[in-house]
Amino acid sequence: MKTNGRRGVPSSTHASSTGQALTEAGWLDVHFEACRPEYEAMLSSVGIEPGWHVLDAGCGSGSYLPLLTELVGSSGRVAALDLASDNIAIVEKRLSGWDLPCPVEARTASLESLPYPDDTFDAVWCANTTLHFGNEELPSVLAELRRVVRSGGLVAVKDLDTNLLRFYPADPFLIFHLSESGLCAERETAESIGSLRGRELRRWLERSGLTEVWQRTTLIERWAPLRAVERQLFGDWLGYLADLAEERGVPEADLETWRAVRDPAAPEYLPDHPEFYACEGQVVAVGRVPGGGG
Ligand SMILES: C[S@@+](CC[C@H](N)C(=O)[O-])C[C@H]1O[C@@H](n2cnc3c(N)ncnc32)[C@H](O)[C@@H]1O
Repeated sequence: MKTNGRRGVPSSTHASSTGQALTEAGWLDVHFEACRPEYEAMLSSVGIEPGWHVLDAGCGSGSYLPLLTELVGSSGRVAALDLASDNIAIVEKRLSGWDLPCPVEARTASLESLPYPDDTFDAVWCANTTLHFGNEELPSVLAELRRVVRSGGLVAVKDLDTNLLRFYPADPFLIFHLSESGLCAERETAESIGSLRGRELRRWLERSGLTEVWQRTTLIERWAPLRAVERQLFGDWLGYLADLAEERGVPEADLETWRAVRDPAAPEYLPDHPEFYACEGQVVAVGRVPGGGG
């Protein structure tokens, strides 16, 4: 078993074949199921219409595909793309078992160089994927998303804002110290910037030349007693964050707390606390490609 080298604790990075943290299908599935009502409401709010051809850019394990195909209906089409070939293999397997209202074509490729001609799609949905890019790379990624959407079509981006993460009754400063240590230690690391950039997405989309841009933030809140899938999500989150805290060198008092609250065998294990509360903030920003009739 892969460990982080400390106390034999299992690795909690949930990486796919690309090595990127939190991109592995098991983690993505748990996250989606635990947050399904809010996630589906976010996608439904974008304005995707029946008959459209839509790209799910950074589709992960494909959790959004059933709803995307419902939104475009039997006269629409969906394309799913991801950098991780193991995620695309899972999507293809799921597609062969699902009975969806319209065709879905999946492929492995990068957002940095989309394998589609200009104006291929009516809309792009890009969930929790632009956060893998640093500030210097993001403009060209947004330009690429915009390139493949026709005039009048929509570019929709959803990202996590880790500043909105909270776990109670733990000390809220655990998260603040972790964010701060990430920015100090890894200022140039794409993920440390990207996961704190969510609430700036509107401005990034405006700067990329999209029009009629709007942004909405959703706070996803869960309280004890947790459903099994929620208990797993927050247990996974705590393991991941506790390992980050070890790597980044937060104050020793924080480390002791992280070690206790992430350990299912410890009495302090947070997801089992009767007054447990957790929330995460997700931001959706949507803009229109200029030049069309809408
Ligand atoms: C956090 S996951 C989100 C997956 C899915 N959109 C969801 O919300 O469940 C990010 C996904 O983006 C993919 N990804 C990362 N960098 C990418 C790139 N340059 N091009 C395409 N996909 C990328 C990862 O492989 C991963 O599947």
